[in-house]
Amino acid sequence: MNKTPYCTRLIILVFVIFSVFTIFPPISHINFAHAADKYFLRGQKLFKKCIHCHTYKAAQTHRIGPNLYGMFGRKAGKVVDFYFSEAWKNANFIWTEKTLDNYLLDPHKMIPNNRMPFDGLSRASDRKALIIYLKKIVQP
Ligand code: HEC
Repeated sequence: MNKTPYCTRLIILVFVIFSVFTIFPPISHINFAHAADKYFLRGQKLFKKCIHCHTYKAAQTHRIGPNLYGMFGRKAGKVVDFYFSEAWKNANFIWTEKTLDNYLLDPHKMIPNNRMPFDGLSRASDRKALIIYLKKIVQP
Protein backbone atom coordinates (compact mmCIF):
# COMPACT_ATOMS: atom_id res chain seq x y z
CA MET A 1 0.00 0.00 0.00
CA ASN A 2 2.66 2.50 1.02
CA LYS A 3 4.68 3.12 -2.10
CA THR A 4 6.93 5.90 -0.74
CA PRO A 5 10.52 4.69 -1.01
CA TYR A 6 12.27 3.97 2.24
CA CYS A 7 14.88 6.62 1.68
CA THR A 8 12.27 9.34 1.05
CA ARG A 9 10.50 8.35 4.26
CA LEU A 10 13.78 8.61 6.10
CA ILE A 11 14.45 12.07 4.72
CA ILE A 12 10.95 13.20 5.73
CA LEU A 13 11.44 11.79 9.22
CA VAL A 14 14.78 13.57 9.67
CA PHE A 15 13.22 16.77 8.38
CA VAL A 16 10.29 16.51 10.81
CA ILE A 17 12.57 15.85 13.80
CA PHE A 18 14.83 18.72 12.80
CA SER A 19 11.86 21.11 12.43
CA VAL A 20 10.45 20.17 15.81
CA PHE A 21 13.77 20.92 17.52
CA THR A 22 14.16 24.16 15.61
CA ILE A 23 10.67 25.38 16.45
CA PHE A 24 10.65 24.14 20.06
CA PRO A 25 14.21 24.28 21.29
CA PRO A 26 14.73 22.77 24.73
CA ILE A 27 14.44 26.20 26.32
CA SER A 28 15.45 25.35 29.89
CA HIS A 29 18.64 23.68 28.67
CA ILE A 30 19.63 26.72 26.62
CA ASN A 31 19.07 29.04 29.57
CA PHE A 32 21.26 26.97 31.89
CA ALA A 33 24.04 26.84 29.32
CA HIS A 34 23.76 30.54 28.85
CA ALA A 35 23.98 31.26 32.60
CA ALA A 36 27.03 29.02 32.99
CA ASP A 37 28.72 30.75 30.03
CA LYS A 38 27.92 34.12 31.49
CA TYR A 39 29.68 33.29 34.78
CA PHE A 40 32.59 31.62 33.01
CA LEU A 41 33.17 34.62 30.75
CA ARG A 42 32.85 37.06 33.64
CA GLY A 43 35.31 34.95 35.65
CA GLN A 44 37.74 34.91 32.74
CA LYS A 45 37.64 38.69 32.66
CA LEU A 46 38.09 38.97 36.43
CA PHE A 47 41.03 36.59 36.40
CA LYS A 48 42.95 39.30 34.53
CA LYS A 49 43.26 40.95 37.95
CA CYS A 50 45.16 37.91 39.23
CA ILE A 51 47.19 36.90 36.19
CA HIS A 52 50.21 39.17 36.67
CA CYS A 53 50.85 37.50 40.00
CA HIS A 54 49.53 33.96 39.53
CA THR A 55 50.11 31.22 36.98
CA TYR A 56 47.55 28.40 36.90
CA LYS A 57 48.79 25.52 34.72
CA ALA A 58 50.71 22.48 35.97
CA ALA A 59 54.45 23.05 36.49
CA GLN A 60 54.38 26.74 35.63
CA THR A 61 56.75 28.84 37.69
CA HIS A 62 55.46 31.04 40.46
CA ARG A 63 55.19 34.75 39.92
CA ILE A 64 54.80 37.23 42.77
CA GLY A 65 52.16 34.84 44.09
CA PRO A 66 52.09 31.02 43.99
CA ASN A 67 50.97 28.93 41.01
CA LEU A 68 47.29 28.13 41.67
CA TYR A 69 47.24 24.79 39.80
CA GLY A 70 45.33 22.12 41.74
CA MET A 71 44.50 24.47 44.58
CA PHE A 72 41.00 23.12 45.36
CA GLY A 73 41.24 20.49 48.06
CA ARG A 74 44.77 21.57 49.05
CA LYS A 75 45.78 23.13 52.35
CA ALA A 76 46.12 26.90 52.25
CA GLY A 77 49.62 28.36 52.26
CA LYS A 78 51.32 25.07 51.36
CA VAL A 79 52.44 25.31 47.74
CA VAL A 80 55.77 23.54 47.31
CA ASP A 81 58.67 25.86 46.41
CA PHE A 82 56.78 29.01 47.21
CA TYR A 83 57.79 31.03 50.19
CA PHE A 84 54.65 32.22 51.88
CA SER A 85 54.85 35.02 54.37
CA GLU A 86 54.62 34.32 58.11
CA ALA A 87 50.96 35.32 57.92
CA TRP A 88 50.07 31.89 56.47
CA LYS A 89 51.87 29.84 59.13
CA ASN A 90 48.75 29.31 61.18
CA ALA A 91 46.32 29.03 58.27
CA ASN A 92 44.65 25.75 58.91
CA PHE A 93 42.05 25.26 56.22
CA ILE A 94 41.54 23.65 52.83
CA TRP A 95 40.75 25.61 49.67
CA THR A 96 37.12 25.01 48.74
CA GLU A 97 34.59 27.20 46.95
CA LYS A 98 33.52 28.46 50.36
CA THR A 99 36.95 29.30 51.79
CA LEU A 100 38.02 30.93 48.52
CA ASP A 101 34.82 33.00 48.48
CA ASN A 102 35.65 34.19 51.98
CA TYR A 103 39.26 34.94 51.03
CA LEU A 104 38.33 36.85 47.86
CA LEU A 105 35.83 38.96 49.75
CA ASP A 106 38.63 40.39 51.87
CA PRO A 107 42.05 38.66 51.70
CA HIS A 108 43.45 40.78 54.52
CA LYS A 109 40.60 40.12 56.89
CA MET A 110 40.84 36.36 56.43
CA ILE A 111 44.67 36.25 56.56
CA PRO A 112 45.83 39.39 58.34
CA ASN A 113 49.22 40.72 57.19
CA ASN A 114 49.43 38.50 54.14
CA ARG A 115 51.52 39.87 51.28
CA MET A 116 48.91 39.58 48.55
CA PRO A 117 48.30 43.14 47.40
CA PHE A 118 44.66 42.74 46.45
CA ASP A 119 41.72 44.36 48.22
CA GLY A 120 39.08 41.80 47.39
CA LEU A 121 35.92 41.55 45.32
CA SER A 122 32.90 42.98 47.09
CA ARG A 123 30.25 41.61 44.70
CA ALA A 124 29.15 38.07 45.49
CA SER A 125 28.37 37.43 41.81
CA ASP A 126 31.92 38.43 40.84
CA ARG A 127 33.40 36.04 43.39
CA LYS A 128 31.09 33.27 42.18
CA ALA A 129 32.12 33.91 38.55
CA LEU A 130 35.82 33.91 39.38
CA ILE A 131 35.50 30.68 41.40
CA ILE A 132 33.57 28.96 38.57
CA TYR A 133 36.32 30.01 36.15
CA LEU A 134 39.15 28.99 38.49
CA LYS A 135 37.60 25.57 39.12
CA LYS A 136 37.67 24.96 35.35
CA ILE A 137 41.26 26.09 34.77
CA VAL A 138 43.22 25.02 37.85
CA GLN A 139 41.96 21.47 38.28
CA PRO A 140 44.01 18.55 36.92
C1 HEC B 1 49.99 41.85 42.98
C2 HEC B 1 50.07 40.39 43.13
C3 HEC B 1 48.84 39.59 43.41
C4 HEC B 1 47.58 39.73 42.85
C5 HEC B 1 47.07 40.78 41.89
C6 HEC B 1 46.81 38.60 43.34
N1 HEC B 1 47.57 37.82 44.18
FE1 HEC B 1 47.02 36.13 45.10
N2 HEC B 1 48.76 36.04 46.11
C7 HEC B 1 49.82 36.92 45.94
C8 HEC B 1 50.86 36.64 46.91
C9 HEC B 1 52.18 37.37 47.04
C10 HEC B 1 50.38 35.55 47.68
C11 HEC B 1 51.10 34.94 48.89
C12 HEC B 1 50.91 35.91 50.05
C13 HEC B 1 51.81 35.70 51.24
O1 HEC B 1 52.79 34.92 51.17
O2 HEC B 1 51.54 36.34 52.26
C14 HEC B 1 49.08 35.19 47.14
C15 HEC B 1 48.31 34.12 47.59
C16 HEC B 1 47.14 33.70 47.00
C17 HEC B 1 46.41 32.50 47.34
C18 HEC B 1 46.81 31.43 48.34
C19 HEC B 1 47.34 30.21 47.58
C20 HEC B 1 47.50 28.96 48.41
O3 HEC B 1 47.81 27.92 47.82
O4 HEC B 1 47.29 28.98 49.62
C21 HEC B 1 45.31 32.47 46.54
C22 HEC B 1 44.22 31.40 46.52
C23 HEC B 1 45.33 33.64 45.70
N3 HEC B 1 46.46 34.37 46.00
C24 HEC B 1 44.39 33.94 44.76
C25 HEC B 1 44.34 35.13 44.04
C26 HEC B 1 43.29 35.50 43.13
C27 HEC B 1 42.10 34.63 42.78
C28 HEC B 1 43.59 36.76 42.66
C29 HEC B 1 42.79 37.62 41.72
C30 HEC B 1 41.51 38.05 42.19
C31 HEC B 1 44.85 37.16 43.26
N4 HEC B 1 45.28 36.15 44.09
C32 HEC B 1 45.50 38.35 43.00
C33 HEC B 1 49.89 37.92 44.98
C34 HEC B 1 48.82 38.39 44.24
